[in-house]
Amino acid sequence: MRILLTGGTGFIGSHTAALLLEAEHDVVLYDNLSNSRAEVVDRLERITGRRPVLVVGDIRDEEAMRCALNEHRIEAVIHFAGLKAVGESVEKPLEYYDNNIVGTLRLLEAMRAEGVKSLIFSSSSTVYGTPKSLPLTEEMPTGEATNPYGRTKLHIEQILADCAKADPELRVVCLRYFNPIGAHPSGLIGEDPNGIPNNLLPYVARVAHGRLPKVRVFGNDYPTPDGTGVRDYIHVMDLAEGHVKALPYVTSHPGWIAINLGCGRGYSVLEVIRAFEKASGQTIPFEIVPRREGDIAANWGDPSRAEKLLGWRARYDIDDMCRDAWRFESMLEG
Ligand code: NAD
Ligand code: UD1
Repeated sequence: MRILLTGGTGFIGSHTAALLLEAEHDVVLYDNLSNSRAEVVDRLERITGRRPVLVVGDIRDEEAMRCALNEHRIEAVIHFAGLKAVGESVEKPLEYYDNNIVGTLRLLEAMRAEGVKSLIFSSSSTVYGTPKSLPLTEEMPTGEATNPYGRTKLHIEQILADCAKADPELRVVCLRYFNPIGAHPSGLIGEDPNGIPNNLLPYVARVAHGRLPKVRVFGNDYPTPDGTGVRDYIHVMDLAEGHVKALPYVTSHPGWIAINLGCGRGYSVLEVIRAFEKASGQTIPFEIVPRREGDIAANWGDPSRAEKLLGWRARYDIDDMCRDAWRFESMLEG
């Protein structure tokens, strides 16, 4: 198939592109490079032996989106593009609503104008809000988002559901990611955020590498087995595979559906630190500090809908995730 990936040079987009290229799909990456580099294209060529097309453009530029869809005769879009830093979204709500929501509206308009009917959207488990019970299933109501970033995911899901209701030919799958970590096993692509990382894994990786002094563990008084926060970490290669498996589904099922992509089990912050110590052979100093505002104690998902509808289930465990994240981290310059 001919597939366009908005945000395709980013962390999750690039790993998905690698698997799509290997599966012989034609891949167009559409990205404004605000949080990624064009060099990813060379890396993807090294990994897969095939070179994706890169179109440098913004999803809010409807004309440029239309050109890309038309010129490459795109059959399906996977929509990764967006801003994703929770703290920053509190500081800059307008930028987040504009980039994520307005950007999605422009994309939908371009798709309508060009007759592209299949869309996979990067949603997040953040749409569930504070869990009333675990594991989280797609039938559970979505919750109250605690920040503008989370609200953009909720609004976009609802906008997509409305559009699918209005156009019986539209086919939308919202993939609700749990916590993606890890890197491609080649070590050539991975996650290396600008500035100090907000998320646990990139932070732990930098401490192991000696780029940061110690991990701050945000609270050890949660009602969890060791008191630290529990999350459903998922290897980015498993997540990427979920998109590949969602393609035949989305192209053949009109309507709107949400599907969890997670492993179905949680690990605590201390378990992650221990797994990373094992994978890297480094000691990882940490200190317990107060809880981070807006954090929940625990969340993990029930991935059985993905298994039933897409034939997908996660294959990698926390040791694999840490091993691959460490390989990528240790290949970066210190
Ligand atoms: P990322 O920042 O690495 O990738 C996003 C890409 O989108 C970047 O390459 C960026 O340059 C591009 N982009 C941003 N705004 C754009 C615009 N207006 N026009 C064109 N390109 C634009 O992030 P990621 O981790 O790969 O996340 C991909 C998607 O998955 C995002 O929508 C994110 O919200 C969602 N998601 C991520 C996580 C996570 O933990 N990484 C969890 C749940 C959901
Ligand atoms: C965060 C976002 C979520 C987003 C997701 C992307 C918040 C409140 N939520 O989720 O909206 O979709 O990233 O993956 O920011 N931790 C530490 N020390 C650190 C960093 C994190 O102890 O330096 C802990 C956290 O308290 C949490 C766990 O590690 O218990 C995971 O944190 P993180 O990687 O930031 O992900 P989430 O908070 O689950």
